[in-house]
Amino acid sequence: MLTKISHIGIAVTSLDANIPFYRDNLGMEFAGIEEVAEQKVRVAMFQVGESKIELLEPTSEDSPVARFIEKSGPGIHHIAYEVADIEAAIATLRAEGARMIDEKPRNGAHGTRIAFIHPKSSNGVLTELCQAGHERI
Ligand code: CO
Repeated sequence: MLTKISHIGIAVTSLDANIPFYRDNLGMEFAGIEEVAEQKVRVAMFQVGESKIELLEPTSEDSPVARFIEKSGPGIHHIAYEVADIEAAIATLRAEGARMIDEKPRNGAHGTRIAFIHPKSSNGVLTELCQAGHERI
């Protein structure tokens, strides 16, 4: 069902303050910034081999990422696995009793379709299913 680790999401208070570390110090390939209005975040993507790092900056105080930073500080926010068929993956997980935050896919960065599994079903780790869109980075 899962084909690879798509990306790891890291919550930050400022993209501008954090992009240089990943791009210049770690030498990751910077793939640009995109706003995901549905999740009230701006996302900076970096390619690392076949996976990505996604920095998440809240665009509003009621963004889930703003609440995460308020509670836990900046840091690892979620891990995302790539799936070929997100509807099928959601259906399989639900049939097995997993609790989903998203029972239907929603729009992620770069034309992806995503759904979150509730951390209660995944050892406290917010887990994202991610189906690649037509825009590949
Ligand atoms: Co993500």
